[in-house]
Amino acid sequence: MLFLHPTMSTNSANIKNTRKLYVESYGCAMNFADSEIIASIMNEHGFVNTTDELDADVIFLNTCAIRDNAETRIRERLKHLRMNKKHNNDLIIGVLGCMAERLKDKLLEEEKLVDVVAGPDSYRDLPKLVAEVDEGGRAINVLLSREETYGDLNPVRLNSNGVTAFVSIMRGCDNMCSFCVVPYTRGRERSRDPHSIVDEVKTLQLNGYKEITLLGQNVNSYLYFGGGQKKEFKKLTPEEQAQAVDFADLLEMVALAVPNMRIRYSTSHPRDINEKVVITMAKYKNICNYIHLPAQSGNSRILDIMSRNYTREWYLDKIKMIRNIIPDCGISCDIIAGFCSETEEEHQDTLSLITEARFDFSYMYKYSERPGTPAAKKLADDVPEEVKSRRLTEIIETQNAMNLTKNNERIGKIVEVLIEGSSKKSDTDWMGRSDENIVVVFPKGNENKGDMVKVLVERATVTTLIGKVVNQ
Ligand code: 5AD
Ligand code: SF4
Repeated sequence: MLFLHPTMSTNSANIKNTRKLYVESYGCAMNFADSEIIASIMNEHGFVNTTDELDADVIFLNTCAIRDNAETRIRERLKHLRMNKKHNNDLIIGVLGCMAERLKDKLLEEEKLVDVVAGPDSYRDLPKLVAEVDEGGRAINVLLSREETYGDLNPVRLNSNGVTAFVSIMRGCDNMCSFCVVPYTRGRERSRDPHSIVDEVKTLQLNGYKEITLLGQNVNSYLYFGGGQKKEFKKLTPEEQAQAVDFADLLEMVALAVPNMRIRYSTSHPRDINEKVVITMAKYKNICNYIHLPAQSGNSRILDIMSRNYTREWYLDKIKMIRNIIPDCGISCDIIAGFCSETEEEHQDTLSLITEARFDFSYMYKYSERPGTPAAKKLADDVPEEVKSRRLTEIIETQNAMNLTKNNERIGKIVEVLIEGSSKKSDTDWMGRSDENIVVVFPKGNENKGDMVKVLVERATVTTLIGKVVNQ
């Protein structure tokens, strides 16, 4: 969950409106970045951010639809918001984002409490939708756009640690993995103007930020050729195509624009990551040696029915390519347990992929059928719930063992850490991340939040490296 910072400025001198806005975010980093765009649009129209939901005139839930349990959480939250409405009759409640896009007007029918429904491409319309509710109606906009990237907006940084920030570089997804709802909730792929990205990153640097993560559903597919949907690219002349900026070009532009900032990116599709990107990473010290490369499964038949367009061997070759260029590159993964028709043997292939690929960590989920996706239409969700649970447990255990193996190998080494803030467990320790995106905790000395320090790793757990600052 994400709460807005109450001291955030509003650019609204000429608009008379002192109503208070409270935004709560669910789901992926893209969604958290979207909430910053939403706040920016609402602030332009005079709404002031609040961290106190009971003080709010407008509550927006920026929702996720990726798995059934994400939507269940929102439904539960809406039940609680009944109390808020009782407390304040004029309170406006909006459901935004992926769940809004998936359910559209069904959400208004099913949830009487909800006044505004807005999909990921209609945030510019939010002030107007709120005005429609003021007139006594309920309002909805779930149109998906061919061009919208919100590239010209300056996101209001919410709940920020002041050190790290997300920068959205593209929207939508053209991959059509059979299990995934995202192409339906976020529309077709569009890339943002690289100059607006560089401007945003430079502004972040001016404001003291030290690390940015370039965000998109499939960043390696980034391609800017003047705007519009990626599928239009093939209609250009060869000369026009040669002018396009791809992801490696963008990484280089950003690395050169802010040489003292750390740069990360997420998420990569194994199909689209290429040598040019990894060579660019190796060339610039400020681009972190870390790639999130979701495999989803370790079995080629399952990958085929997931429409991932690669095999296990092809995936492992990509890992080899990355480690040939950057030997100690951190690599993490997303894994789905119990996809349609997955056998015990096929599940074993996923377990062995973890040990073979030596992932530094993984995000692991049980398959959850999403209405309207190709898998829901064509494949039976036939792995029993208890089998899915058991397989997920085995995947987690295998990955945890790999985490520990890899973290133990780091004991005795010196890692470079950007300090993000105090450790959650102890106020006398700092917490930061290594270049490879591993969490590092160490006792506080004279350092400050936002400093880059060298830490000697002395101990390791499944999730954390523990050490001390060394002067070198
Ligand atoms: N069920 C379970 N996990 C899913 N993911 C995407 N769709 C589903 C689904 N229907 C996972 C994938 C993806 C991550 C963001 O969420 O692993 O990479
Ligand atoms: Fe959830 Fe996917 Fe939407 Fe992100 S893009 S909020 S993960 S459904």
